[in-house]
Amino acid sequence: MNTAVVGLQWGDEGKGKITHLLARGAKYVVRFNGGPNAGHTVVDRGVRLATHLLPAGVFFPGCTAVLAGGMVIDFEALREEYDAIRRHLGEPPRLAIAENAHLILPYHRVMEEIEGSGAHFGTTRRGIAPAYRDKAAHVGVRAGDLAAPDGLCGKIAERLESLCRQWPASEALRALSAEKMCAALLEAAEPWRDSIRNVAAELRCAMERGDAVLFEGAQGALLDVDFGTYPYVTSSSTTIGGIAPSIGAAVPAIERRVGVVKAYTSRVGEGPFPTELNDPVGTHLRTVGGEFGTTTGRPRRCGWLDLVALRYAAALNAVNELAITKLDVLSGLEALKVCTEYRVGGRRVESFPLSGETLAVCEPVYEMFQGWPEDLRTLTKQSDLPGAARRYVEALEDSLAAPATILSVGAGPEQTIGTGL
Ligand code: GDP
Ligand code: IMO
Ligand code: MG
Repeated sequence: MNTAVVGLQWGDEGKGKITHLLARGAKYVVRFNGGPNAGHTVVDRGVRLATHLLPAGVFFPGCTAVLAGGMVIDFEALREEYDAIRRHLGEPPRLAIAENAHLILPYHRVMEEIEGSGAHFGTTRRGIAPAYRDKAAHVGVRAGDLAAPDGLCGKIAERLESLCRQWPASEALRALSAEKMCAALLEAAEPWRDSIRNVAAELRCAMERGDAVLFEGAQGALLDVDFGTYPYVTSSSTTIGGIAPSIGAAVPAIERRVGVVKAYTSRVGEGPFPTELNDPVGTHLRTVGGEFGTTTGRPRRCGWLDLVALRYAAALNAVNELAITKLDVLSGLEALKVCTEYRVGGRRVESFPLSGETLAVCEPVYEMFQGWPEDLRTLTKQSDLPGAARRYVEALEDSLAAPATILSVGAGPEQTIGTGL
C-alpha cells in the first residue's frame, strides 16, 4: 500500500515526525517537491535532527530514500546533510536521485538577493524560485548532467555569462567562477555518481510489484504555486497532485492520503493569514510550540485553527486520514477559537478565496471551544484525552470529513497515539 503525507497549512505542520513514524515499513520514501527550503524535524533514536532535502526513509536501513524529479537539489547542502545523518547512523543511507531533478547553483541564490524576493516575500533564500524558473525557461542544469562533466561545465558557464550580461552591475555574480562552481559541484556529488538514475522507471516498477512507497510532502497546500496564497507561495506543487509529474507515473495509486494538521496555524514569511494572533495567545503558541523556523530560525507567525483553509486543503489533496500534531501546545489555554467561515464586507464567504487580495480582507468568524488544563504529553491512549480535547479533534474530523488516525502530543515518536501507526 502506498501512502502520502502532506501538509494542509503553510508548512511546518510536523510532517517530518509523521513520515518518520510511517517510514519504518516502507521500501521507498520519496521527496517529490521543493528543495532545501524544507526543514523537517525528526527525533531518531533519541536524537533530534533536521532534514532539508532527504526524506525520512534515510533513517531505516531497508529503505531507499528518493529525491524525485520534481525537486530542486543543492548538492553542497545535500552533502552536509548526508554526512551528518551518516555519522548519526554509523552507516551510509541508501539514496536514489532522479536524473531529471534540477540543481540549485550559487547563482540562483545571488539572483534571489538581486531580485529582493527574500525581503519582499520572506522566502528561505535558498535559491528555490530562480532554480524552478531556470527549469521552466529551459536553461536549468539537471542531476543527470553530472555524468558528463564537460557538458555540465559548459552549461553552467553559459548560464553564468548570460546572467552577468543581464545584471552587469552585480559584483556577486561577477565574483562567481563557472569552473570553481563546477569543481565544487562534482566534488560534493561524488558519493552519488551511481545513485543518480532513472528513478521514475524504478518507482513505477516498485509500485507495480506492490512495494510500499511513502511520499513525503514538503511545505503545505497553502504554499502551493498554483493553489496557494499566490504570490506568497513557494515554487512547486505541494499537494498530492504534485506526485504524478514528479515521479512520471500517470495515476499513482496512493491509498493512504494523510493530511498533517497542526492543532493551530503558523506561517513563516509574508502573506495573508486571517486567523493570525498578535497577542499573548500568539506568544503562547510560539513559545510553548517552539515556533521558530527549522531552516532559517525565523519566528513563525501563529494563530487559531482555520477550518475554511483546511477544508480547501483537504479537498485539494483528497485526504482520507488526518494526523493532528501539537495538541499538547494548546494545554492551559482557557478557551480556543476555531475559524469556521470568513466575512468580507459583512458578507459570508464559505470557500477559501484563490486570490491573495481577497484573502487579505477576509475576517474570520470564530466558534468557541473549551480549552483543557491537562498536560497531554504523556498520554498513550486516545481514550485518555480530556473531553475538551476530544471535542476539538472531533470538530476537525467532522469539518474535514476524515478520521484523525494519528494524534501527536510531543516531538518524540513515543508521544503519539492513534490507530494509524
Ligand atoms: P515539518 O516541516 O512539517 O516537518 O515541521 P517542522 O519540523 O518544521 O516543525 C514542527 C516542529 O514541531 C518541530 O520542532 C517538531 O519537533 C515539533 N513537533 C512535531 N510534533 C509535535 C507535537 O505533537 N508536539 C510538540 N510540542 N512538538 C511537535
Ligand atoms: P516545510 O517543508 C514553512 C515559505 C517561505 C516563504 C515562501 C516562499 O518545512 O514545511 P521559498 O524559499 O520556498 O521560495 O519561500 O514559502 N516556505 C516554508 N514555510 N515551511 C516550509 O517547508 C517552507 N518552505 C518554504 O517562508 O514564505
Ligand atoms: Mg518545517
